[in-house]
Amino acid sequence: MTKPLRKVVFPVAGLGTRFLPATKVVAKEMLPVLDKPLIQYAVDEAVDAGADTLVFVTNRYKHAIADYFDKAYELEAKLEEKGKDELLALVQGTLPANVRAIFVTQPEAHGLGHAVLCAKPVVGNEPFGIILPDDLIWNRGKGALGQMAALAESEHAGVIAVEEVPHDQTDKYGIVDAEPVDQRSARIRYMVEKPKPADAPSNLAVVGRYVLPGRIFELLEQTEPGAGGEIQLTDAIEALLMEQGKVLAYRFEGTRFDCGNKAGLVRATMHMAMQDRQLAAVVRDFAAQL
Ligand code: G1P
Repeated sequence: MTKPLRKVVFPVAGLGTRFLPATKVVAKEMLPVLDKPLIQYAVDEAVDAGADTLVFVTNRYKHAIADYFDKAYELEAKLEEKGKDELLALVQGTLPANVRAIFVTQPEAHGLGHAVLCAKPVVGNEPFGIILPDDLIWNRGKGALGQMAALAESEHAGVIAVEEVPHDQTDKYGIVDAEPVDQRSARIRYMVEKPKPADAPSNLAVVGRYVLPGRIFELLEQTEPGAGGEIQLTDAIEALLMEQGKVLAYRFEGTRFDCGNKAGLVRATMHMAMQDRQLAAVVRDFAAQL
């Protein structure tokens, strides 16, 4: 892919049933890790990768995400009046001034591939990124998507983030069979969505970051329902691989937290707390007490 990455798609139309009853009214992407909602970590990573157009694929229950990135007139006026500049900067900083947010709806839930396809009219025929906000990836240096965008540009290929997972968990992920190129990247030979451990070609799992060419949309249009009766992004990427011969799997630098479940959210929260001097002391003391 020769062009730099400008657009990033966030599929955020899921129901978040693992966090009921909170998700009756709070979109799961709005659940906080310390003081920032999950979606903010994802947006920061996209902006760090150079994106200036963020495409949120939502459903009609997810107004909070649009509200969160919108201007909060009353609140901002109050903070300004009281001279609370630091808080004002936080409120205004959810979306940098040069970045725009576009919302498209996924009218019916037909899977991740279908959600991504809903972004086609906005993305068009150019390379773009996908971030699944449930997968929070923390890195001290460049974010995972930024690392992948650089590789996609230099290698002229789609890039999928991967990580080894326990063998008995292959049925939760897209799984790749890949031939190593160097320590971090590998050429994908084959990929399959949620295979049973006995059928999995490896334990190298796709995690929620992708850099793909615009061509994927046409392939998604031709993709039949797959695992779970849903239109799977993994199946369209497998078709892209057949067609273009080269899609890379990339072991990103950073730590992933699967915040789509409670254990992951607890871990992410503790990890982020440990990055803060005062909160780190609180975590240590409390852990000692426990
Ligand atoms: C999706 C993808 C899967 C990928 C996973 C990463 O699955 O379909 O290939 O491994 O995200 O989080 P989901 O978690 O939406 O079932």
